[in-house]
Amino acid sequence: MSSTRRVYLDHSATTPADPRVVAAMMPYLTERFGNASSVHFFGQEARGAVDRARREVAGLIGARSNEIVFLSGGTEANNLAIRGLCEAVEPHGRHIITSSIEHSSVRGICEALEKRGWEITRLPAYEDGIVKVEDVRSSLRTDTVLISVMLANNEIGTIQPIQEIAALIRQERAQGCKHLWLHTDAVQAAGRIPIEVEQLGCDLLSLSAHKLYAPKGAGALYVRRGVRISGQNVGGHQERERRAGTEAVPGIVAFGTAARIADEELSVRNSHTAGLRERLESTVAERVPDIVFNGHPDRRLSHISNISFRFIEGQSLLISLDLEGIAVSTGSACSSGTLEPSPVIRALGRNDELARGSIRFSFGKDNTVADVGYLVDVLSRVAEKLRSLSPLNPKAMASRRFPQTVGRD
Ligand SMILES: Cc1ncc(COP(=O)(O)O)c(C=O)c1O
Repeated sequence: MSSTRRVYLDHSATTPADPRVVAAMMPYLTERFGNASSVHFFGQEARGAVDRARREVAGLIGARSNEIVFLSGGTEANNLAIRGLCEAVEPHGRHIITSSIEHSSVRGICEALEKRGWEITRLPAYEDGIVKVEDVRSSLRTDTVLISVMLANNEIGTIQPIQEIAALIRQERAQGCKHLWLHTDAVQAAGRIPIEVEQLGCDLLSLSAHKLYAPKGAGALYVRRGVRISGQNVGGHQERERRAGTEAVPGIVAFGTAARIADEELSVRNSHTAGLRERLESTVAERVPDIVFNGHPDRRLSHISNISFRFIEGQSLLISLDLEGIAVSTGSACSSGTLEPSPVIRALGRNDELARGSIRFSFGKDNTVADVGYLVDVLSRVAEKLRSLSPLNPKAMASRRFPQTVGRD
């Protein structure tokens, strides 16, 4: 029986647009429709709005506004960062260091470069889902040009030691290694932990609007002043030739507004989602046996909880929850739809059963304590039911009586 109650717990996949953000963008769909490259009044009005949004997005990460390149989203930001930098610096080396728990967009770009002869070192993330700076150090080679490690993971929320990796790069630069750059995918982290790019020490940083209560279709790449990248979209002068094409003004305005609000409300949102997550984790531990929490207990984003349910296929649990009106995800949204175990959970050293049985719950600013109560009630009921039927569950199998098979030698 399907439920009429709806509880959205998949904010790492996407967020609903904030009404304040929609209100800010609406005029740019209607009366202020100009092309930001046009010289006339309509164009200049749009240009002004894009400039303002650039300052707002820059403000969220402590950047200068001319260090922000507007794009279509996080995937494009990762493409421009990695491909754009690699193309620009290819004569200096063809080795990249990355982690084994990156988002599929970074994994995919690295695989594509590998096919073109680049060498990729994928660092382990160990049981707690955190990359070790020592591993970065020991993987450095004279031909390493790029380190790309995400700021926070999208499935387990773990926060990576980017500042420490940046300090290592500074040491290398001081010893004469001039052609080494640091990219970080901050799509999940932005608006959830404070980010100051100067302090963080990265050269390139990816952002996406739809994770921040803005509509889909806008993103940005921070490119530190002085860092050279090759534009991947050519044929126009927009975004200082780093991304040709008419700017998507309404989406950019929405992104700017969402970034400003996220900055203002960061600590309120964080304490709200941290409270809900703690409540989920403590009550689920009391009421649902045979579960394993994935990721580091503290060094993680406040809104994500990733739990493996023994003896259950995550996909079956997801569907059962969906029938009760609860939206969660198995692995990342981009890899769901496949029945492959999550590569991120596998990278933590979990076996296939735990990787397949993992569910990501990701909270947002509008979730309530009642949502958690409803979730845990439904979870404990459906987990018990699925386990009683599961061929993965030895207890369920032992208690079932199978028809006697006729011997056949
Ligand atoms: C860590 C991370 N990087 C990149 C992306 C891709 O962003 P977009 O959906 O804007 O292309 C996502 C989206 O799930 C993500 O979580």
